[in-house]
Amino acid sequence: MDAEIGLDASQPESFSDVKSFFESAPPLKNSDSITQKVKEFIHQNSQFSGNTKSVGVVCVTSGGTTVPLEQRCVRYIDNFSSGHRGATSTEYFVKSGYAVIFVHRRGSCQPYCRYLPEDSFLEFFEISNDSEIQVCRPHAPAVKKAIKEYHSAVNGGLLLKLPFTTIFEYLQIIEVVATSMSCLGPRGMFYLAAAVSDFYVPWESMAKHKIQSTAGPLDMRLTQVPKMLRILRIEWAPSAFCVSFKLETDPDILLQKAESALSKYQMHVVVANELATYKREVILVTVGGKVSIRKQSEDADVEDELIKLLVEKHSEYIESCRMG
Ligand code: PMT
Repeated sequence: MDAEIGLDASQPESFSDVKSFFESAPPLKNSDSITQKVKEFIHQNSQFSGNTKSVGVVCVTSGGTTVPLEQRCVRYIDNFSSGHRGATSTEYFVKSGYAVIFVHRRGSCQPYCRYLPEDSFLEFFEISNDSEIQVCRPHAPAVKKAIKEYHSAVNGGLLLKLPFTTIFEYLQIIEVVATSMSCLGPRGMFYLAAAVSDFYVPWESMAKHKIQSTAGPLDMRLTQVPKMLRILRIEWAPSAFCVSFKLETDPDILLQKAESALSKYQMHVVVANELATYKREVILVTVGGKVSIRKQSEDADVEDELIKLLVEKHSEYIESCRMG
């Protein structure tokens, strides 16, 4: 595979759509501090030779974006994504020696927390006789493991977490991360597991205040969100290794759609998954062919094998870029 790409920026989903999306989006809160954090993290993890700290830097996107219906948002359109794929994959990337920028939906599944119940404080902790808070004995090993692994990743400088809620925040953060990661060349990877909204209400045409139900049935026109995969590949981080996902509910069109995304956006890998089986099976689609990955047992994670294969493909890619 080659870092040089031949995408045509004048194709239908042109950059003018992307430009007008960003121009009309509300400004990203804490933009300067996000940019600074990302740049520092990348700088700390950009020494790949000698005393190698990380083998590469991967931006993992996770969870679903929301589409607000009002500027002072009371209602929004959401999707089913729990963030489990992204959180689990993050753990396996860190385990493989990658530094991970985890761009995730606020409140979605987090790395190292998968085995903790939702009410983790209430379930896992109790008040001792001397009024101290302590971990309930049966849960202690799982809690200790999660805390240890989480702190090891964060203190080792291998995990940076950036939250988003809306489609506007998500795409603005991806732009910051991608343009900052371009300095890594082929050592940078994008693993785009987030479920990104396809339709949205442009900020300027959005109701400012809560939409009133007394006005009768709601008639609303949604505009298409421009696909960012193209601009990511052409402008933001042209040498990075890009893995996108394709989710479908109809198995008959899944592979054809994944193949079409592979060539249309010049992805290095498209991970195809079907809603009914996505937790136990994915198909890795590349120009070289397809590999089906299935969870081997109830306790296994499909992401374990998936990340191993992607790490292999990424290092082949780095090598091919090095050889020119
Ligand atoms: O979070 P979980 O519950 O574990 O679920 C995981 C998952 C099923 C959400 C995940 O495995 C998955 O398939 N994520 C991608 C789902 C999706 O939105 O597919 P899509 O066909 O709409 O988009 C394809 C790709 O284009 C995605 O990589 C997306 O990041 C990208 N995209 C989408 C819309 C858009 N406007 N711009 C984009 O770049």
